[in-house]
This record gives sequence, structure tokens and C-alpha cells, in this order.
Amino acid sequence: MKGEYMVIQEVSPRDGLQIEPAWVPTQDKVALIDALSEAGFTRIEAGSFVSPKAIPALRDGDEVFRRMRRQPGVIYAALVPNLKGAQRAILVGADELNLVMSASQAHNRANMRMDCEQSLAGFAEICAHARDSGVLLNGTVATAFGCPFEGAVAEDRVLALVDQYLELGIAGITLADTTGMAQPRQVARLVRRVRARLPTSVLTLHFHNTRGLGLVNVLAAYEAGALRFDAALGGLGGCPFAPGASGNICTEDLVNMCAEMGIATGIDLPRLIALSRGLPALLGHGVPGQVAKAGRNCDLHPLPEALARQAA
Ligand code: COA
Ligand code: ZN
Repeated sequence: MKGEYMVIQEVSPRDGLQIEPAWVPTQDKVALIDALSEAGFTRIEAGSFVSPKAIPALRDGDEVFRRMRRQPGVIYAALVPNLKGAQRAILVGADELNLVMSASQAHNRANMRMDCEQSLAGFAEICAHARDSGVLLNGTVATAFGCPFEGAVAEDRVLALVDQYLELGIAGITLADTTGMAQPRQVARLVRRVRARLPTSVLTLHFHNTRGLGLVNVLAAYEAGALRFDAALGGLGGCPFAPGASGNICTEDLVNMCAEMGIATGIDLPRLIALSRGLPALLGHGVPGQVAKAGRNCDLHPLPEALARQAA
């Protein structure tokens, strides 16, 4: 098992907070990102630069990017839907732009208020604009494993979009299961087909645990050769424009699984668990993650008193 590793991109500051009903003050967002930066992540999606009417919870993205304390070696990514978002993100020094559209027209219309063709035309503008800025580009195909409005999404449709992203000069690709419709065999098949088109190091899988298959899908993707995964502290997250959406796969649950399996992540699990345990106070509600409640496998409990007396 020596030498196995997984790269985890922490997305709670974006995917996690975008759906929170109560306002999280800018200083708390900054503190969360700073704490994550110190927990060993090499990639953090720190916010989005979208319409403040569409996602009021993240309307302070510019301020967050200006105030967060950047750790050397960490890539701070920003989700953008259009040229305006890209310009805002570049202005505040985002290292990577994550350009997002859905494979399904219906979800793209609900989420981005555009047809897929309009999204792609906007991405071409962004690529032209970004060329001289040195910013990295990643393209996400949302609803890649199923759409809450249209149902099944054809693999060939997803692959055609990946090809279009690559032709535009977008180097990184994310396949996103926006509403947790993926199953492991489908995941493995799509990962193998996408890996034939681009280096594994720039492929990210983004799963939601909506139907309980989040970590199963991670493992299927990993065993099919994928190495990079999005996850959110506490299992926060969800798309406000997808009915029934729920949280991302939970970062500390994923890191714990990797630790037990001998897959290196470089992430400080006790620190992550401590951070996750602070989320209910920050957000005013419990969170779905399980390891922060149960503890790590190695966090053992004292024997019941009667047994301890016998043993003594
Ligand atoms: N950042 C800030 N403001 C933006 C913006 C951006 N990236 N893009 C558009 N706007 C503003 C416009 O300036 C305009 O403002 P005004 O009403 O004060 O004049 C308003 O938003 C509407 O602009 P328009 O271009 O007509 O956009 P729209 O209403 O058709 O919405 C999107 C299109 C893409 C901007 C919007 O649907 C969006 O931001 N979606 C993102 C949703 C999201 O983040 N989902 C979860 C992550 S996948
Ligand atoms: Zn998501």
C-alpha cells in the first residue's frame, strides 16, 4: 500500500456556505478559511463570484479573498459563472477560476439562468481574458451523473463537454454529482473514459452524499484511477437551485477513511475534527458528518467500570 495518496480540495467555504440560511459574517468566513489553510489542504475553494441576488450568502467574496491569510503552496480557487465573476476573482487574486455549467440544460437554466451554449460562450470570453493573468482554469461539468429535473445524463454528453473545455484551454476538469445521483459502477466507467482524455492529476471528482453513496463513489473513482476529490467540512453543502440537494461528502469522514486504508492525504485529522465540532455554533444547526461525532477509529474509550475492576 506504500505511496498511495489522495488530494482533497476543501469546498466548505463555497459549496458549504452557499446554501446556509443564516448570514455567516465575513470575519467568520475568513477565520474558517485560515484554519483550513493550516490543516494541510493544498487546495481550498474559498468562495464564489456570482450574482449576489442568486447566492446572497457569498456576496462578500471579494472581501473574504482580500482578508484571508494565504499559506504558501495553497491554491485558493473561486467559482465563477461568467466574465464578470472572472474579473472580480482575478482582481482579488484568486489562484484558480472554477468555471461551472451543468450537463443538463434544465439544471443550467435553473442554476445559471442560461442555456449551456451561453455558458460555453461566456467561458470562451473568460479564457481569452484570463490568458495573460496567469490564473489557473478548471471547468466543472455539474449534474454529470444525473439531473434532478431531466434524470439520466448521457456519458457521451459529459465527454463532449469535457472535450469542449479542453479545446478552450481549460486545463483542469471536475465531474460533479450535484444532487447525489451517481452510483459506483457508473462512476468507475466515466472516470476511465475521462482519463483517456487528460492527465489524472488535473481530474477532480465532486460528490454529494444525498443518497448515502458519497464515499462509495469516491472509492470507485479512486480505484478507477482518480486522485483528486472535493469534500466539505462537516458534510456541509448543496446547490440552492436543485430541489432536495444536500451536503457534500464530509472531509473528515473521507480523511478518516483514507487514514484507515493507508492512503496519505497530508491533512491533520484531529485538527479537522476540532474545526468541524465548531460548526454547529457557527451555523446554528447540526451537521451530517459522522467522524466528528464518533471520533477516529483510534480514539478508544475506557472500559466499563465493572470490567476495568475485573481486569485490575
Ligand atoms: N458577480 C456579481 N454580480 C453579477 C455577476 C457576477 N458574476 N453576474 C451578474 N451579476 C449581476 C449583474 O450585474 C446584474 O446586476 P443588476 O441587476 O444590479 O444590474 C444582475 O447580476 C443580473 O445580471 P444578468 O447577467 O442578467 O444575470 P442573470 O440574472 O441572468 O443571472 C448568473 C445569471 C449566472 C449571474 C446567476 O444566475 C448566477 O450568479 N448564478 C450562480 C448560481 C450559483 O452560484 N449556484 C451554485 C454554484 S454551482
Ligand atoms: Zn456541489
